[in-house]
Amino acid sequence: MQDLVVRYGGRRGGTTVIDGVSFDLGAGETLSLVGESGSGKTTIGRAILGLAPVTAGSITFHGETVSNIPRARRRRVARDIQVVF
Ligand SMILES: Nc1ncnc2c1ncn2[C@@H]1O[C@H](COP(=O)(O)OP(=O)(O)OP(=O)(O)O)[C@@H](O)[C@H]1O
Ligand SMILES: [Mg+2]
Repeated sequence: MQDLVVRYGGRRGGTTVIDGVSFDLGAGETLSLVGESGSGKTTIGRAILGLAPVTAGSITFHGETVSNIPRARRRRVARDIQVVF
């Protein structure tokens, strides 16, 4: 994840809830996001899944950019990502 920005309510007049988040996660590694309620942990996860708008920045999974790609292609990539709600 490189410089992720998630903005709800449009690019103008909306609310930026993620503002420049970057991290790398290698195979076999575990990453925990820690922060106060409303700091954006769930939104980051939703952005990876394509369920939150990626306003800026990029998300790369297995070498492939998965942010801002067509929904059909994204669905194929997301098969390798599992969520425990
Ligand atoms: N669909 C949405 N539209 C507008 N704002 C949203 C939306 N979803 C989340 N937010 C806002 O984004 C911010 C981050 O929320 P998020 O749920 O990602 O936080 P969190 O770190 O997971 O919190 P918690 O620890 O309570 O689960 C909050 O201010 C929240 O109100
Ligand atoms: Mg949450």
